[in-house]
Amino acid sequence: RPSPAFPSIGLDTMPKQENGQKEDSIIQNDLSESFEEEVRAFLSDEEKLHLFDDLTKVNPVTTTTVLKCLQARYAVNLFYTNAGCSLVALNPFHPIACLYSPELMREYHVALRPQDLKPHIFAVAEQTYRNVQSQIDPINQSIIVSGESGAGKTWTSRCLMKFYASVAASVISPKGNETVERIEKRVLDSNPVMEAFGNACTLRNNNSSRFGKYIQLQLDRFHHLSSASIQTFLLEKTRVAYQAPNERNFHIFYQITKGATAEERLEWNLPEGADYRWLPNSERNLDEDCFGVTRDAMFHLGIDRSTQNNIFKVLSGLLHLGNIQFSNPVDESQPCELEDKNKDFVKTVGDLLKIPVEELLESLRIRTITAGKQQQVFKKPCSRAECDTRRDCLAKVIYAKLFEWLVLVINESIYGDPSGWTSFIGLLDVYGFEAFPENNLEQLCINYANEKLQQHFVAHYLKAQQEEYAAEGLQWSFINYQDNQNCLDLIEGNPLSIFSLLNE
Ligand SMILES: Nc1ncnc2c1ncn2[C@@H]1O[C@H](COP(=O)(O)OP(=O)(O)O)[C@@H](O)[C@H]1O
Ligand SMILES: [Mg+2]
Repeated sequence: RPSPAFPSIGLDTMPKQENGQKEDSIIQNDLSESFEEEVRAFLSDEEKLHLFDDLTKVNPVTTTTVLKCLQARYAVNLFYTNAGCSLVALNPFHPIACLYSPELMREYHVALRPQDLKPHIFAVAEQTYRNVQSQIDPINQSIIVSGESGAGKTWTSRCLMKFYASVAASVISPKGNETVERIEKRVLDSNPVMEAFGNACTLRNNNSSRFGKYIQLQLDRFHHLSSASIQTFLLEKTRVAYQAPNERNFHIFYQITKGATAEERLEWNLPEGADYRWLPNSERNLDEDCFGVTRDAMFHLGIDRSTQNNIFKVLSGLLHLGNIQFSNPVDESQPCELEDKNKDFVKTVGDLLKIPVEELLESLRIRTITAGKQQQVFKKPCSRAECDTRRDCLAKVIYAKLFEWLVLVINESIYGDPSGWTSFIGLLDVYGFEAFPENNLEQLCINYANEKLQQHFVAHYLKAQQEEYAAEGLQWSFINYQDNQNCLDLIEGNPLSIFSLLNE
C-alpha cells in the first residue's frame, strides 16, 4: 500500500517544472548552478554517504547522489536500502554469512517495529505479513520483485518464500497424512524443479529465469501457511531448439546428461560423452547442474520415480530429435533424405517418445493440405528448411507441454480448498530486462513485461502520489521523472504499434 514515498524535503531544491509553467531562463541558470553546488556539497562528505539507509533522505535527489550512496553502502557490505516504502536490493554476487539466517528472520519477525531495523528484505516480508494480519484493515498483499536480468530477483523471491515458510509455518500436517510433505516444504521444493526446467545460463546470468512466475501463499485464519498456487508466464520455449552463442539450453538437459547413473544411461539412451546439437557448452559445470536436488524435490512433490523416469526419457528423446538433420532429395517430388547416422537418431527418438518411426518421419517431412469444396487431402514433401522448422516446433511443443504439466502437478501438490484460507501474500518474480547483441521476439516480450511493471511503479508512486498532493492543495512542486508511457504506446498502443503490426 503506498505511503508518501517522496516527502518534499530535499525535492524543493530540484530544478522545478511548476505544473508545466516555463521559468525565466536567467533564473533557471542560477538555479541549476546552485543546484550543482548542492550536489557537490552532498557528495563531498564521502564518509557519511553509506549512512543514508533511506534514499528519500538523500538531498538533492539525483541519479548521481543516489548511485553514490548505494555504492558507498555496497562497499561496506550494506546491500539493502529503503526508498520510501520500497526496498532497493543490490546483488552481492557471493553468499554473505548470516544475511539470511533463521536467527535474523526471527529478529525481524518479533521486532516491535521491523521497519526501524536495518533495511532488509525480511523487514518488507514482515511488514507485508503484518498488513495481511491487521485487525483494523486486513488486506491481501503482493510483493513485486523487479530489476534487470541477474539483479537477484529469483534469489530474493526464494528468500521471501523461506521467510514465510519459517514464520508462517503450518501447524499440523496437511490432510492429517504424515507421509505427505508439509506444505512449506513443498512450496520450497517447487523452486529447484521449476528452475531446473525453466532456467538457463545466459550471457547475463548463469541461472536466468526463462519464464515469469507469480506464487500466491495462502494463509488460514490463524495466518499460517495452508496452501499455495503458482501461475507461470511465457516460457521461452525456443531455447529448446536454439541457444544463442555462449548460452545454454535449460538446466535439466545438462542435469540428466551429467547425472544419470550407468543403468539410466542405457535406458534413456544417453551414452557418456555423446554429442547433442542442442546441448552447447556442456563442458561448463555450474552449481545448477545438480540432478540429485531436482529429483528429490520432484519426489517430495509427489512425482514418483517411475514418472520421473518417463519424463527424463522424453527429454532424452528431444536431445536426439535435435540431432536429426535432413538433406535435399535427388528427386524433388520425394521427401528430404536422412543420412544413415540420422536414421539411428530417428529410431531412438521414436523409441523414447513412443512414436512409430514412420509417423514421426511423416510429420517431420510431409505437409498435409486440405483444400477444395470436397475437403480433399493433399500431401506435399517439405523443403529442407521446412523440415528443420517442423523438427524444432515439435521439440518446443513437447517441452512447453511438459513444463505446463509440471506446473499443474506442483499446483495439485500445494493446492488448498479456498474455504481453507482467508488471505494471501503474492510474490511476483519475472524475467528481467535484457538486451543482447542479437535480440528476438522473446526479448521484446520480456522487456515489454518489464516496461509494464515500470509503468505500474511510475503510476503508483510518482503520478498518483503527486496528484493526491495537488488535489489536497499541498504546496507541491511537481518533480520530473521519466514516464515510460510513450515506450508502452509504441509497443502496445492503438491503433498502430509494434504488436499491432506484428499481429498483422
Ligand atoms: N542476495 C544475494 N546474495 C548472494 N548472491 C546473490 C544474491 N542475489 C543474487 N545473487 C547471485 O546472483 C545470481 C543472479 O541472481 P538471480 O536471482 O538469478 O537474478 P534474476 O532473477 O534477477 O535474473 C544468483 O545466481 C546468485 O549467484
Ligand atoms: Mg530470475
